[in-house]
Amino acid sequence: MVETKSQGTPTLFSPYKMGKFNLSHRVVLAPMTRCRALNGIPRPALAEYYTQRSTPGGFLITEGTLVSNTAAGFPHVPGIYNEEQVEAWKKIVDAVHAKGSIIFCQLWHVGRASHSVYQPGGGAPISSTSKPISNRWRILMPDGSYGIYPKPRVLEISEIQEVIEHYRKAALNAIRAGFDGIEIHGAHGYLIDQFLKDGINDRTDEYGGSLGNRCKFLMQIVQAVAAAIGADRVAVRISPAIDHLDAIDSNPLNLGLAVVERLNNLQLQMGSKLSYLHVTQPRYHAYGQTESGRHGSEEEEAYLMRTLKRTYQGTFMCSGGFTRELGIQAVAEGDADLVSYGRLFISNPDLVLRLKVNVPLNRYNRKTFYTQDPVVGYTDYPFLSKDKGTQGQSRL
Ligand SMILES: Cc1cc2nc3c(=O)[nH]c(=O)nc-3n(C[C@H](O)[C@H](O)[C@H](O)COP(=O)(O)O)c2cc1C
Repeated sequence: MVETKSQGTPTLFSPYKMGKFNLSHRVVLAPMTRCRALNGIPRPALAEYYTQRSTPGGFLITEGTLVSNTAAGFPHVPGIYNEEQVEAWKKIVDAVHAKGSIIFCQLWHVGRASHSVYQPGGGAPISSTSKPISNRWRILMPDGSYGIYPKPRVLEISEIQEVIEHYRKAALNAIRAGFDGIEIHGAHGYLIDQFLKDGINDRTDEYGGSLGNRCKFLMQIVQAVAAAIGADRVAVRISPAIDHLDAIDSNPLNLGLAVVERLNNLQLQMGSKLSYLHVTQPRYHAYGQTESGRHGSEEEEAYLMRTLKRTYQGTFMCSGGFTRELGIQAVAEGDADLVSYGRLFISNPDLVLRLKVNVPLNRYNRKTFYTQDPVVGYTDYPFLSKDKGTQGQSRL
């Protein structure tokens, strides 16, 4: 059944104005690392993958994209810190724009979630702390095996300023490549989250201790990037309640609120809103998956997300375990303006159409999430229609 828009009540399929961007629906491609950018350079397969998932007025977020040569913790992840990468991204962005979609580049530094094999000169990964990620977690190595996370090196204060500069330059590069904006990856236990969470950050300087100090690194990045490319092209992703890679906080709600309040204040100071705030909830654990979430009860999770949504003064995007029904419900009940879909979008290039007409979805194959084949498990998931969905997409 096609979802119809009842008067005045937004649905998952009704338009949304996100700052200067007019979205035709609220189903967003979540950022997902796919390891197909050989040696850090996006290649034509990425253009095929992203255009397959494009719809007129749709919104896509790229996979985590490296801000510097110390930022990687997975094999074959694209970067946006050198000219060759910028040139390669231009072709992908142009192809997505030709399909009418809006695309943001997710800026990523994994911090301690790395390994000497991914570091220049085989050095130690950098972090807020010298504590390694525990043995509960394993790192994917370039040969497909899994390794132990090594002990990281604590960033000096002067080095923190250099990393902020890497984000600023990467954001400028993204705009030069034609991206409509960038999302700062502050979630899931990577570098920024390593500063935010009190279960990791054990610094005794101005970047550790109090909530304000722990938020400082993120806020300085947001400020630097917004000043460089304009606040209305900048988004932030956080996951206060997710313990991926040991990213535990003693009070996720207070941490989330501290970030939200600082973003609200920054927006007031700048006289301009950010594009959106993207929050991952741990619920995605509940759907038979192995991604971890330190999830409380359903009520606790709903309360956290609702409180952040109601406190944040701007566009709010949710992610994590959304089915068709949950996405429709979240938008209809005012719990989300936009919903990002991850795994279902991997296996359903025409997910928007499928959700809209309510037809069965392809199942995803976890084994090919992080492999390098440019087709298998990447661009070969079937569309509803035989002509690769062009007919279907034009019906939206
Ligand atoms: C293969 C894979 C790669 C991912 N890579 C990223 C990433 O690069 N950046 C990010 O912020 N989240 C990443 N995520 C998390 C997704 O953006 C999303 O929040 C998560 O999959 C939950 O949504 P879902 O239940 O719709 O899959 C990844 C998830 C998967 C399954």
